[in-house]
Amino acid sequence: MAINKQEHAQWSSSFGFVLAAVGSAVGLGNIWKFPYMVGESGGSAFVIAYLFCLALIGFPILVAEWLIGRRGQKNPINTFSDVAASEGKSRSWGIVGATGILGGFLILSFYSVIGGWALNYITKVGSGSFAGQDGDSVAATFDAMLASAGTLTIWHTVFMAITALIVGVGVTKGIENTAKVLMPLLGVILFVIVGYNVMNGGFGEAVNYLFAPDLSKLNGDVMLAALGHAFFTLSIGMGIMVAYGSYLGRDVNLLSTARTVVILDTVIALAAGLAIFPIIFNNGLDPASGPGLIFVSLPIAFGSMGAGAIIGTLFFLLITFAAVTSSISLLEPTVELLEERTPMSRTVSTIVASIAVWLLGIAALLSFNLWSDFTIMGNGIFDALDKLTSKFMLPLTGLAAIIFVGWKMDQRSIQQELGLSNGTWQLWQIIAKFVAPIAVLIVFVTTLMS
Ligand code: PHE
Ligand code: NA
Repeated sequence: MAINKQEHAQWSSSFGFVLAAVGSAVGLGNIWKFPYMVGESGGSAFVIAYLFCLALIGFPILVAEWLIGRRGQKNPINTFSDVAASEGKSRSWGIVGATGILGGFLILSFYSVIGGWALNYITKVGSGSFAGQDGDSVAATFDAMLASAGTLTIWHTVFMAITALIVGVGVTKGIENTAKVLMPLLGVILFVIVGYNVMNGGFGEAVNYLFAPDLSKLNGDVMLAALGHAFFTLSIGMGIMVAYGSYLGRDVNLLSTARTVVILDTVIALAAGLAIFPIIFNNGLDPASGPGLIFVSLPIAFGSMGAGAIIGTLFFLLITFAAVTSSISLLEPTVELLEERTPMSRTVSTIVASIAVWLLGIAALLSFNLWSDFTIMGNGIFDALDKLTSKFMLPLTGLAAIIFVGWKMDQRSIQQELGLSNGTWQLWQIIAKFVAPIAVLIVFVTTLMS
């Protein structure tokens, strides 16, 4: 099925491109991961470090990946090696594309497990099972789900099957078009929940917790977590944005497009924080309770607000949708690679890649129950996959991308392409050559030393 290949035309408008990029960026990272990472790191210190990382590291690397992708017009491996060759540099830069693809593959395995939780919660909230429940019983429902390897496997399988179907049939563009209706709706629902919180207490405490600068909590671990999450949330450091860059028309302004993506992604994450933390404080829940945080807090609100079952069902439906627009972008590069480098057709490539991801996902979900005693350097399989990718693979791959753009490519053509006049161009160069790479290195070194 060559649908996608034929469609490898350029986006008809920058709007279509923004949709795809936002579809990949906005997902479980914003609504599920951001809040619990904030909670684990003690609040505003993480938020502030995260905003810094987004502005000084994430934003320029996003632009860098699109720049490389637009030059290369191929999959990430060939793009890196071709663009390097055309600049008179070594083709072994292709390795950067390969680590990127591997990162996406590993992330999808545990991302799909969480997508499965969201799917499961559509049915739970929809059937009214949280009506009138307090924190303890909502937590008990969540724990029961975690303890059941069978339940987790079923929903992980459903989520993975949806992803595979969309990628295999090649209708990712159709999905992205739907995103232009459903993503704003997700934003609306988040703000409805925030509004509910304003009326029901805990709001001031949450605002304080998220934004009142308390830098005493800032340390190497928090910085590395914030750095890793900046990469995760923008879908950078793994070749996805490089691949998307190959669809970019010449006329698309990279800087303003990146600004749009970063702002939308950040607004959704902060709104998720304001939707969740007031409920946490109001009900005496533990902000540091980990990956289950949104699943043990939001249902309390859905159980007590008017039309809570409807709003809650819609909410979990929409975050599942947001997760799917991200998961298709995670699966696509591996499928494309298999399709191009092996005799397998697109359909077979999709099936093979999906089964491999699915199996790894099973190992990840078993770490919540049957295999909970099995650890790799102190982490269960789920945590190990998450940390390996977010804290190491993504930042290192992204670092390579920004070094490549800052130091290896012809600078004059980049200045032209970004359309920058001298003053702003100097600012860009300082950030791309020094600030972003050095910041990544500092975070690594601080962590290694602590
Ligand atoms: N950025 C997505 C999110 O925040 C997750 C993702 C990571 C998607 C990496 C693609 C690549 O949910
Ligand atoms: Na995101």
